[in-house]
Amino acid sequence: MYTHITETANWLKQKMPNAPKTAIILGTGLGHLAEKIEKLAAIPYADIPHFPVSTVEGHHGQLIFGKLGGKDVMAMEGRFHYYEGYSMKEVTFPIRVMYELGITTLYVSNASGGTNEAFSIGDIMFITDHINFMPENPLHGPNVPTGPRFPDMSEAYDKKLLALADKVAAEKGYKVQHGVYLATQGPTFETPSEYRMFARLGADAVGMSTVPEVIVAHHCGIRCFGVSVITDLGVGDKIEKVTHEEVQRAANAAQPRMAAIIEEMIRRFEA
Ligand code: HPA
Repeated sequence: MYTHITETANWLKQKMPNAPKTAIILGTGLGHLAEKIEKLAAIPYADIPHFPVSTVEGHHGQLIFGKLGGKDVMAMEGRFHYYEGYSMKEVTFPIRVMYELGITTLYVSNASGGTNEAFSIGDIMFITDHINFMPENPLHGPNVPTGPRFPDMSEAYDKKLLALADKVAAEKGYKVQHGVYLATQGPTFETPSEYRMFARLGADAVGMSTVPEVIVAHHCGIRCFGVSVITDLGVGDKIEKVTHEEVQRAANAAQPRMAAIIEEMIRRFEA
């Protein structure tokens, strides 16, 4: 596996027009940020040796290199989800490659269902911590020596980045929430009883991504910032039918605010 990672990284180093320290995973809710990136190169996943290929609707599947907020960035337009059938090693393969390319800061976004009664659809939630409710840990197997066998997880989401995010949101006058993100395998959304259970376990939002990538990035010493758009509510009598289309629609409404926050954070943060 690691030979594949270094082969992919070496291939990309030949193609990279810049040497970014910042990476972004443009999940649901951040797709439009791609338009703000001054693109220097866009490489379809299908052209990158050993890269998995994305299958989900609404995800393009390419790696973008360019400038955002005056900094060199690389961005994944489309990510790999465990529910699609990829192994955890495949889901987190791009993170290992990012580490080999010299990435030190990662911004990641997702859509999620709010389990906190104080949340509303369309809210932006900065992720303060997570609960890994997926059936596997991406670090399962022989330890890759980018980090220890038993990694500390007391600060998986970097406090400095979180403080900066709060400052930027306050300056822009955006109301934001803070909360714990719980990741399930998916692809089912939750039953009302499952939402209730997750709320009791300490989750403020539930989704199907992000946690594997953050675990591996953290193991590589990459600082992480995560943000969720609350696209539906798993709260008592507010529970309604959820569809992928509604999730997309609610996420689209939050896109401009999400994009503005991330762009400004990148401008100010010395990665
Ligand atoms: N549950 C899980 N994943 C999700 C949800 C949800 O309610 N909304 C968007 N992604």
